[in-house]
Amino acid sequence: MTELRLADVDPARFPADAVVIGIYQAEDDASEPLVLADGARTVAEAFGGRGPSLVETLRLLGATGEPSEVTKIASLGAVTAPLVAAVGLGKASALPDHGAILRRAIAAATRALAGSETVAVAMPIMDRDAIRAVAEGCLLGTYQFSGYHSRPPRGRRTPVGTVTLCIAGSALDDGAAEAARASVVTAAVTLARDWVNTVPNEQRPPQFAEAIGQAATAAGLDVEIMDENALAEGGFGGILAVGGGSSQPPRLVRISYRPNESASTIALVGKGITFDSGGLSIKPAMNMWEMKSDMAGAAAVAATMVAIARLRLPVSVTAFVPIAENMPSGTAYRPGDVLRMRSGKHVEVLNTDAEGRLILADALALACESSPDCVIETSTLTGGQIVALGQRVAGVMGTPQLCDRVKVAGERTGEPAWPMPLPEDVRTGMESDVADISQVNSGMDRGGHMLQGGVFLSEFVPEGIPWAHIDIAGPSYHRGEASGDWAKGATGVPVRTLIDLIEDLAARPLAE
Ligand code: BES
Ligand code: MN
Ligand code: ZN
Repeated sequence: MTELRLADVDPARFPADAVVIGIYQAEDDASEPLVLADGARTVAEAFGGRGPSLVETLRLLGATGEPSEVTKIASLGAVTAPLVAAVGLGKASALPDHGAILRRAIAAATRALAGSETVAVAMPIMDRDAIRAVAEGCLLGTYQFSGYHSRPPRGRRTPVGTVTLCIAGSALDDGAAEAARASVVTAAVTLARDWVNTVPNEQRPPQFAEAIGQAATAAGLDVEIMDENALAEGGFGGILAVGGGSSQPPRLVRISYRPNESASTIALVGKGITFDSGGLSIKPAMNMWEMKSDMAGAAAVAATMVAIARLRLPVSVTAFVPIAENMPSGTAYRPGDVLRMRSGKHVEVLNTDAEGRLILADALALACESSPDCVIETSTLTGGQIVALGQRVAGVMGTPQLCDRVKVAGERTGEPAWPMPLPEDVRTGMESDVADISQVNSGMDRGGHMLQGGVFLSEFVPEGIPWAHIDIAGPSYHRGEASGDWAKGATGVPVRTLIDLIEDLAARPLAE
């Protein structure tokens, strides 16, 4: 992983393979076509007297300052680094809300500089938020999943080794604290991404549970892995049914973090379907491979636990991670089955591809047995989330106050999430002739598809416990080419939201 350093140095004189500067796009009424961002002054001065100015040269090369656009220019000895990379930051007037722009821009720049061993960053880093965004961006933009190639694919360059942020001496203390936090947070994002990108034949339920257990134990956390016998003993009918079609049995992992001082108790739950074929209600072949990422919620929750232990947050957190592989076979569960769940409720199965809510219902019920102050659950639950909100914005359902806190944490971290309702008529549509509730709309109507998932889960959270369900079907997996802090494939969403939210809940518990 890329290493991050901070130094009060002149970027024009710093011995690095490349130096990154920021450029702003022209304002609508401006005569200046491009404006250099703070931090780049000495670099621009060093180019002075060599013909066109640095800004003019960048303009000649086609730079416009658009967010995340990277323009490279050889320094020909003007500054110590042989290469200068100018990255677009959009319009300076948009800056009040520039955390996300900065994070994505610096990520694009460090990715474009792959192959360089050392990079200096001379950017507008004015406050702690900016340091956080830049530090996270540097460390996330260079992410690459190692993959399974026998020899390195053509054109793949080694990620940048060391990034030095050039900041003023007065900001070094704040900077060091933010850089330390960013390395813990981005290591957690990287861990989640690696788990999600790992292929499903290499990561079946017992293996995934072991991998989570090892990472959590290494971070000093308590881990308990329930196997299929423990699950049968405990009456986890949902997890056992979904896992029943696979030759590899399901698991439920419990991870606990108990600091000496704790303001409140939080429960986390994450969906861990290592592969979702749909089961007997089998999915079409097209894009079925993407369902190797159906454990992104579990990966995010487990990685978040590792981070909060390393950050020593003053709040007790327990994670419950149900893990299964959803496969068709002679031992698979069927449409028409009625399951007795951990909570004692009976559920009628109508579509074995709505498996996530069944394993989550059992994990949520267990999580609530110890009466936590709130429960936060995240899952790649429905294609309906993508239809409603697209690839970038997660859907949030649950108790309104906690949903709002999730939304705000999403805004702060650049992982947008939007609150969605749990309408009464959607619940009515899930009445079953033979059980307490159907797993989906009893007429198989796909209207309010994402909401059906949330409504179903709400049945397994007892009245009085604040809870939030974050549907990350879209944002957890990036289907396009690398862009900003997202590489192709797993994104690690919502690890940064969860960490931010838990910090926020530790500082400001939910009102009664
Ligand atoms: N894992 C899928 C949801 C999903 C779809 C995640 C696309 C990421 C991308 C989930 O288990 C599923 O199959 N949901 C069904 C539910 C339906 C059968 C009620 C869906 O969304 O179609
Ligand atoms: Mn499914
Ligand atoms: Zn699924």
